[in-house]
Amino acid sequence: MQKILITGGLGQVGSYLVDALHEKAKITVLDNYSSTTREAVPPEVNVIKGDVKDRMAADLVNQNDVVIHTAAQISVTASMKDPLFDAQNNVFGTLNLLEAARRSSISKFIYISSAAVYGDPINVPITESHPQDPLSPYGASKLSGEKYCMMYNKAFGLPSCCIRPFNIYSPRQDPGNPYSGVISRFIEKARAGQSPVIFGDGTQTRDFISVHDIVDIIQLLLEKEDANGHVFNAGTGNSITVSELANMVLETFDVDVPVRYMPERPGDIKYSCSDISKARKILGFEPKVSLREGLMEFAE
Ligand code: UD1
Repeated sequence: MQKILITGGLGQVGSYLVDALHEKAKITVLDNYSSTTREAVPPEVNVIKGDVKDRMAADLVNQNDVVIHTAAQISVTASMKDPLFDAQNNVFGTLNLLEAARRSSISKFIYISSAAVYGDPINVPITESHPQDPLSPYGASKLSGEKYCMMYNKAFGLPSCCIRPFNIYSPRQDPGNPYSGVISRFIEKARAGQSPVIFGDGTQTRDFISVHDIVDIIQLLLEKEDANGHVFNAGTGNSITVSELANMVLETFDVDVPVRYMPERPGDIKYSCSDISKARKILGFEPKVSLREGLMEFAE
């Protein structure tokens, strides 16, 4: 059985990955418990509490065949407050794993980057070759992690590849967390019979992708050797406005309240939508969960 190390395996992406893979492979989770608990994954899964920056993380890389690196400092706002903390995790943590991978016989190293690397898009849909001008330390640290992964592929032949997820959602995103995504926030309000709050005029667009489609694309990366040395957008290729999203959530939860408007959030980008032609072509990726189905999953 293949041995897979999933860093951040208790997190949003990591825990769904564990669900999808733990019967097919021998999974080890490395997680610092910063945002979740042991209960996020089944009891039979081997979970090690620790940090990707530690020496121990490098030892774990040596004991596995594959590394899926989902652990990260994920908050844009937190990165603005403390860019050093962000870089220590996202840049040094990634480099620590890559350096261990270079010295072992890793058959695949998968890195989860972010659409934040693009900054404010010049044109949409966004292809992978769109200029990368991050607007936050988080975007810069994710881009740096990505560049290291690609450099390790070119310079050392490490079989590494990366995805740039757009707006991921799932019922496991904590709505109480102020950094949670707009879908979780709208649903939390709808459940309480309260008005969703739209920042700005609601015409901004986003490409919302279900965590299940993210798990799918990661599984394709695992299977396809052609993926090595490449970075792929991970979105649906479709976007909707935040106003349309608010209406869809209210409809799904059968709540009849007006939306509330607040001033635009500083630093927000206006339009975002992925071009996923490259993932379609090289990986055969096809997103399967429509936004309506994805919202229904929260209702269940
Ligand atoms: C998302 C990611 C971020 C990534 C970026 C890449 C999340 C939580 N964040 O940021 O990590 O860097 O994509 O492009 O997935 N909004 C409201 N009301 C709310 C909450 C949000 O109107 O209650 C609006 C925001 O102002 C924004 C849009 O909804 O215009 C999306 O916000 P959010 O879900 O926080 O994600 P992004 O800012 O797109």
